[in-house]
Amino acid sequence: MKILVTGGTGYIGSHTVVELQQKGYEVIIVDNFSNSEKSVLSSIEKITGISQQFEEFDLVDETHTSDFFKRHNDISGVIHFAAYKAVGESVEKPLMYYRNNINSLLNILEGMKANNIRNLVFSSSCTVYGQPDKLPVAEDSPIKPALSPYGNTKQIAEEIISDTLKTSDIRAIMLRYFNPIGAHETAHIGELPIGVPNNLIPFITQTAIGKREVLSVFGDDYNTPDGTAIRDYIHIVDLAKAHVVALDRMIENKSLSDGEIFNLGTGNGYSVLEVIKSFEKVSGEKLNYHIVKRRPGDIEKVWADTKFANKELGWKAKKSLDEMTLSAWKWEKELSGHNSNK
Ligand code: UD1
Repeated sequence: MKILVTGGTGYIGSHTVVELQQKGYEVIIVDNFSNSEKSVLSSIEKITGISQQFEEFDLVDETHTSDFFKRHNDISGVIHFAAYKAVGESVEKPLMYYRNNINSLLNILEGMKANNIRNLVFSSSCTVYGQPDKLPVAEDSPIKPALSPYGNTKQIAEEIISDTLKTSDIRAIMLRYFNPIGAHETAHIGELPIGVPNNLIPFITQTAIGKREVLSVFGDDYNTPDGTAIRDYIHIVDLAKAHVVALDRMIENKSLSDGEIFNLGTGNGYSVLEVIKSFEKVSGEKLNYHIVKRRPGDIEKVWADTKFANKELGWKAKKSLDEMTLSAWKWEKELSGHNSNK
């Protein structure tokens, strides 16, 4: 079966393509390399031994997207990752975020509808919960006003998809990611931040390798045991595998409804200092960090209630925090050409 993966050379997309190909799915990638590199295509091939079918274009281009779907009307499902994802940038450039993240989704839904392609897996985020009133946070928890245009594009996208399902044969699974980190065990693919990383793990590994001088820990005055903010970090490969399970579920007609939502997390919350300790332990490196004031827009703590995903998808995140930080470190060393097989 042929699956379209949009944004298939990105961080989550590339790991998901590997899992799909290893499960026997035929994959076609669409990407415009706005936040990724072409070399990822050959890196995926190194892992799976399968050369990539791919087309380079912008999914915001309505005519091109419609033409793509006409030419590939034998697609059985779509996994839609292609989107901008930097929270801070979205505050600076809201229209760019709305145009890109919303228009591409509309074009994809139109293309699916016109060509009777039924199954959609959508890349959503735990950001839709804001700071939840109750932890762990379950899928039926209230959606809070978005803290950024990026977060708002995820909320709006979920609504657009839900409305579309009511008037078409399309069915969807929306996956709300917590904090994906780490890299593939082969260290052939991983996160490739362009410029200064916004996220914690690439900043840690780049500091340890010497690309950055010091990691700023944003706030130690939160209402948490060590005062630093808590997140539910999930290994990228565990997360990628859930996409294959979601797709199988729709194809095998196992969904409970046309629009399902699942949390993808481990159910465990770790503080920023705990992540740093884990990194120092597995890498044997001493990390240069200092505490600075809170980052605007950050929430204090969030971790997932994973019961629904574990039961319904029959999927569970397996990898520990140490495995996550170690794989991220191996990847950083690979990127820097310092891999000494330690
Ligand atoms: C953010 C977004 C999330 C988005 C994700 C993907 C929010 C509330 N969440 O997640 O919606 O899907 O990015 O890009 O904006 N930290 C430091 N120093 C750093 C970097 C991070 O202390 O240099 C801390 C943060 O304050 C936070 C934790 O590390 O407590 C994780 O941060 P990060 O990796 O940026 O992810 P989120 O902010 O949780």
